[in-house]
Amino acid sequence: MTSLLDLPAEGVPSAAKEADPTASVPSAVPLPPPGHRLRRTRRTPALRALVRETRLDPAMLVAPLFVVPGRGVRQAIGSLPGVARVSPDEALADARALADLGVGGVILFGLPAAKDGVGSGAWIADGIVQATLRRLRDAGLDLVVIADTCLCEYTDHGHCGPLLPDGRVDNDAAIEILARTAASQAEAGADVVAPSAMMDGQVAAIRAGLDAAGHHETPILAYAAKTASAFYGPFREAADSAPAFGDRRGYQMDPANAREAMREMANDLAEGADMLLVKPALPSLDLLARARDRFDVPIGAYQVSGEHAVIAAAAERGWVDGRRMQLEALTSIARAGASFVITYAAADVARWLREESR
Ligand code: PBG
Repeated sequence: MTSLLDLPAEGVPSAAKEADPTASVPSAVPLPPPGHRLRRTRRTPALRALVRETRLDPAMLVAPLFVVPGRGVRQAIGSLPGVARVSPDEALADARALADLGVGGVILFGLPAAKDGVGSGAWIADGIVQATLRRLRDAGLDLVVIADTCLCEYTDHGHCGPLLPDGRVDNDAAIEILARTAASQAEAGADVVAPSAMMDGQVAAIRAGLDAAGHHETPILAYAAKTASAFYGPFREAADSAPAFGDRRGYQMDPANAREAMREMANDLAEGADMLLVKPALPSLDLLARARDRFDVPIGAYQVSGEHAVIAAAAERGWVDGRRMQLEALTSIARAGASFVITYAAADVARWLREESR
């Protein structure tokens, strides 16, 4: 007589079943039926799609763009497969392609022609980011153009503000320069400014600077909980922004501290932040979830260069399915509470989402 145990297991060829020692073990006692059959709603792709709680949409993705002076420049970045440093004309082409894919936004990082001790390349009117912003604004693309507001790409020492004689970053001098930088970015056409220097009081300073320059309508996306992370490695090659000495632990947060992260976010909101950003993303899912519960503002996450690199490198070796892993990572980030995600995979993911019906 055929018992249930003789039926082929799902997806297991019968030869494999033969080799499975548990397949022929008779059940000694009658088992109670499962109380809740959660598998019922997992049976078909259509059922799974119906009950899916988190969906990705190209409009929630933001693509980083690294801009360099010149024309027709496109330099590959070794540690960030698929990402390039581009001149403003190429950045416009990339942004147009991203807009056509339905990607929600771009965030600009600049590699200036020259660096100095105070990072003046960040705020000068003909700075590389400002030049690119004007081109993007003039093209009237249907995506949000965000300017990263920081100084580490523009200082010759690679820190996020000017230095005190003892080598520490001068917080209060930095926030003045950041305010000036944000105003010049808004002037050049940034839809949003995103301060990432982790200086105390930077959001209030930037709000004041924007308002004084007449940019009342420009929102601030505060990199509020940004930890001193090893996951930024490839970015520092891409943006040529590695600190010449020391590290950023004197201003970026200790990844061990969740309560402090909540204070950072509360402070930034009190100072006038319109949106919060948590970074890196996968290592900070708990921070995202806590922030989502506490703060009724838009919250984004930055899937940073190292998060991208580990997936891309493992996929390149054939060790993982890069596409599935990337979609799973982004879905988890959204599930934890991010309304939008900055990701180096934005274009690929937008394409995949178009291909995938379920
Ligand atoms: C600038 C900045 C950094 C990143 C975003 N903005 C580098 C850093 O803090 O060292 C990292 C992003 C990434 O790794 O993708 N301060």
